[in-house]
Amino acid sequence: MYSSILTASRRHPGHLIDILQQIQSMDGYLSNQAMLKVAGFLDMSSAAVWGVATFYNQFRFTPPARKPVRVCMGTACHLAGGQLVLEAMARELKIEVGGTSEDREFSLERVACIGCCALAPVVTMKDKVYPRMTPPGVEEVLVGIKAESEAEA
Ligand code: FES
Repeated sequence: MYSSILTASRRHPGHLIDILQQIQSMDGYLSNQAMLKVAGFLDMSSAAVWGVATFYNQFRFTPPARKPVRVCMGTACHLAGGQLVLEAMARELKIEVGGTSEDREFSLERVACIGCCALAPVVTMKDKVYPRMTPPGVEEVLVGIKAESEAEA
């Protein structure tokens, strides 16, 4: 497991973040098992690996949802009502920001500027961008997406 990442040239604590990034890129998140493996590989305590991983908010510790929802909270989106969109999304999905639905269909995150400020406030789901979102727009988008999911099932 992770033999392409845990190579001899990386066997130094200075490579910890790089290793964690690559594992997250491969698995979509950092499992306890992965962090124990990294701790053993770098001869560090699991508490030290956990401490570093949780310090950076780029790492996630639960498997990603099939439909990750990201609400931009960069300056332009925030000024255009991003917080209300985020709250509406949390309400409609019935999950907290940073959470994942029990069926792992949706997760909800707030993210920094995603580079399309002219379309603020912006939401992304998987690779699709939803521009100029509003709280009522959130409900419309989710009704459509849930209908698509049911059609696929
Ligand atoms: S601030 Fe949201 S896309 Fe730039």
